[in-house]
Amino acid sequence: MSNQEDLFKNLISHCKEYGFIFQSSEIYDGLSAVYDYGQNGTLLKNNIRQYWWQSMVQLNENIVGIDAAIFMHPTTWKASGHVDAFSDPLIDNKDSKKRYRADVLIEEHVAKIEAKIEKEVEKAAKRFEGFDEKMFRSTNARVLEYQKSADDINARFKKALNENDLAEVKQIIIDSEIVCAVSGSKNWTDVRQFNLMFSTQLGSVAGDSDTIYLRPETAQGIFVNFLNVQKTGRMKIPFGIAQTGKAFRNEIVARQFIFRMREFEQMEMQFFIRPGTQKEWYEHWKETRLKWHNALGIDPKKKRFHDHIKLAHYADAACDIEFEFPFGFKELEGIHSRTDFDLRNHEQYSGKKQQYFDPELNQSYTPYVIETSIGLDRMFLAIMASSLKEEKLEDGSERVVLSIPAALAPIKVAVFPLMGKDGMPEKAMEIMNMLKFDYNVTYEEKDNIGKRYRRQDAIGTPYCITVDQQSLEDNTVTIRDRDTMKQDRVAIDTIPNLIAEKVSLKSLLKKLV
Ligand code: GAP
Repeated sequence: MSNQEDLFKNLISHCKEYGFIFQSSEIYDGLSAVYDYGQNGTLLKNNIRQYWWQSMVQLNENIVGIDAAIFMHPTTWKASGHVDAFSDPLIDNKDSKKRYRADVLIEEHVAKIEAKIEKEVEKAAKRFEGFDEKMFRSTNARVLEYQKSADDINARFKKALNENDLAEVKQIIIDSEIVCAVSGSKNWTDVRQFNLMFSTQLGSVAGDSDTIYLRPETAQGIFVNFLNVQKTGRMKIPFGIAQTGKAFRNEIVARQFIFRMREFEQMEMQFFIRPGTQKEWYEHWKETRLKWHNALGIDPKKKRFHDHIKLAHYADAACDIEFEFPFGFKELEGIHSRTDFDLRNHEQYSGKKQQYFDPELNQSYTPYVIETSIGLDRMFLAIMASSLKEEKLEDGSERVVLSIPAALAPIKVAVFPLMGKDGMPEKAMEIMNMLKFDYNVTYEEKDNIGKRYRRQDAIGTPYCITVDQQSLEDNTVTIRDRDTMKQDRVAIDTIPNLIAEKVSLKSLLKKLV
């Protein structure tokens, strides 16, 4: 494959071909930025969710989980600031009629300048022996010029966003000579704000109804239940409330497959703390979340922290864990120090006190909050992108393998009878029946063994077990490892112990403590 774009296209078609992800309502030509998870995708998604949930709720005795409703009282979204401030600046190109997020146009432009700098550095590093990168960056005329241009745009953009100066945002686009990718023209409309929440009506009789919103984040279901959980669970600060569930955003530009969807799933945890301790807890959760990602064995170079230039309306510090998707480094997870913004506002709008009595301090206060928020679909994409590989084998053939962390694999074991006769299928079914109470297992009889191995490699099955003539004589089978392709002959009754260490979530969770 020639480039990242081809790799990404290949990934999307692999997801469809092997039952991971389908376009929603595909028989009606689909619905933009809405996707369905297929038989393998659902299992993988469940496993990622489970890994997150257990790492939060099971490993931490001071974190509990809830499942709040998607619909909430509409005042929730007034109090949270989403009615007034949850919008993106949009801009249209008058010639192509294509709509863009103005901030994304500028960020992508700056990213292109930064890529030019990296290219210069790379070129020079190849040319000069004993290359001093720091020195080069601070003295090379071309690099300095690019850097100044990127810094100027960033500074203007930050100021414009902070002052909500949409005319200036448009001016930056014009001054930077940003063109529409479709028409190639610079014929832009003014920039305007667009609220991302979907609204609908509650109640069946017109006039009797009330506008309500599909939640744009799961976090508010946690905030409005803060006291319910604290009191009924007799929780002491610091403590956390975790939740996974659907969120909805009417994204202006919904591209890049499941990266930016209009209906997606979040895994969020709000950690309630004493005011004044937010800096140390913010650092703690940055480190803890990075450890969670690193335990999956994904190349550390593919992840990085990125501090926010513009803080959301609720935050006093915020960063993203970015992942290098096939279309570049992008946000995978957000870690936000949300102050007491949400609880204070809910107290004000509801008229109900949202305070905690701290027995150690003998005083009441509104807790501060550190939030960790990750998109389940984005995590799914990150895992698929870093796992899908085409390998050249020693015999000159190729295989496509999804080297997903074994504990997250949709199917843990595939069992094959070498032939569909002579008692081999029955023996294979015995093995299936032994393993199916602990793991998702599958059985295949069709095609030659090589083809069956390839099909399982493509969906990431860590182990394939083959029942052959010898199995019927001495109760042994061959077990093939997906990654090494090595086959070992083992006694059937040793299989559960043999695979448990690698395929159970426990193996991942143990790396976190
Ligand atoms: N409660 C805070 C919050 O919602 P966010 O940064 O807007 O913060 C958190 O979203 C995470 O949700 C993101 O890091 C991303 O992984 C995921 N996410 C946000 N919008 C998304 C979308 N349109 N499609 C898929 N995932 C999305």
